[in-house]
Amino acid sequence: MEQYIIRGGVALNGEVEIGGAKNAALGILAAAIMTDEEVLIENLPDVRDVNVMLEAMAQIGVKIDRRDRHTVALCGAGIGDVSIEYEYIKKIRASYYLLGALLGKYKKAEVPLPGGCNIGSRPIDLHLKGFKALGAKVSIRNGSICAAAQALHGRHIFLDTVSVGATINIMMAASMAEGRTVIENCAKEPHVVDVANFLNSMGANIKGAGTDVIRIVGVEKLHATEYSIIPDQIEAGTYMFAAACTGGDVLVRNVIPKHLEATISKLLEIGCEVEEFDTAVRVKAPEKLSCANVKTLPYPGYPTDMQPQIGVALAMAEGTSIVTESIFENRFKYLDELARMGAVSKVEGNTAVISGVEKLTGARISAPDLRAGAALVIAGLAADGITMVDDIIYIQRGYENFDQKLRGLGARIECVSSEREARKFVLRVG
Ligand code: EPZ
Repeated sequence: MEQYIIRGGVALNGEVEIGGAKNAALGILAAAIMTDEEVLIENLPDVRDVNVMLEAMAQIGVKIDRRDRHTVALCGAGIGDVSIEYEYIKKIRASYYLLGALLGKYKKAEVPLPGGCNIGSRPIDLHLKGFKALGAKVSIRNGSICAAAQALHGRHIFLDTVSVGATINIMMAASMAEGRTVIENCAKEPHVVDVANFLNSMGANIKGAGTDVIRIVGVEKLHATEYSIIPDQIEAGTYMFAAACTGGDVLVRNVIPKHLEATISKLLEIGCEVEEFDTAVRVKAPEKLSCANVKTLPYPGYPTDMQPQIGVALAMAEGTSIVTESIFENRFKYLDELARMGAVSKVEGNTAVISGVEKLTGARISAPDLRAGAALVIAGLAADGITMVDDIIYIQRGYENFDQKLRGLGARIECVSSEREARKFVLRVG
């Protein structure tokens, strides 16, 4: 199994380029099959979740022409099967986006029910509530969700909880329903807006994405388009916190600063200097980070996907901080790993009290999930000594060239797959 091995204590300096947003790409890839014409998608992140999604789409007959790592041409004309195999949903929950896309286009779909994951149970009741409201019959049979309708009719749908996935999935199905659909209490994340813009570029009629009310007028057909995915705000925020935690000075390029407002606000609060440019932000770390309190909220609030990263920063800050995770029920597992590096924290329910320590020390740790794994790498970069991170397959789900980009900023990190390689790294970096 591959691991990251890190020699901590190096301040990151230089420039890093951000790729396309994984969570926009997954919705856009699904929506792309809703036309029988060819769709060209650019700025695709070359990460495991995206590549598995493409495999799931090929399995049902989507023609896929990977022009290069970041560009793919898709054609959904040849779809012969509207049921997705379990092996794909097991690897990536977001293949459930194919439910909304297939239901919208073919008025039927069958997708295995996604299980929970390490950060929570992650039900999809709101997705199904939306499909039923549009007129689909939805049943759970042999572990799969079966949805079918003679026709889909626009409806007024209120989402009990703000949900990115439900907003995107229902928006896709409604884009080819008959009549008007209003979705209230929508998620406003940049990737929701990107999927709406993508669908509109195919001829859909969607207004209000980015607000908490989305209005859709269904259309009969969608057509070809060429589209470039927005930059990944979470990948960007991860490198911004890597600079903050290592005493570094990093220019993060190819971002939309507007999407980073909550992250920038917290970096300023813990003592960083942040300079914003049109498509880049520069983060300069202070001598010592300051404590702060943070609560994760739906966009534009502080993102839950940035919670582990600030948790690591607060673990080495001056003073005591309180972190409240209001989105998922089990997103503090990284603190158990961080404790092995000397961090001091106490978790009560969805709140963690973190008492900053002088210095973390390297240890052997494992990545509990995608964002926690990335945050633990940041901890290793900041810690004294050698850190080994296991289960990095989670990190590779959402971060392209993670160790290469960090080495580009001066980090001493390698991806190794044997004890011998690890020993060679330690001999080399001392
Ligand atoms: C998306 O997950 C992201 N994944 C997550 O990023 C992100 O953490 C999350 O949005 C919140 O921003 C993708 O976009 C592929 P939700 P999603 O539906 O859509 C509850 C990453 O690191 N809920 O907004 O699954 C749910 O349990 C991943 O890239 C219901 O109760 O999140 C949660 O408490 C991790 N019923 C809350 O809503 C439903 O039907 C928000 O979940 C749906 C959700």
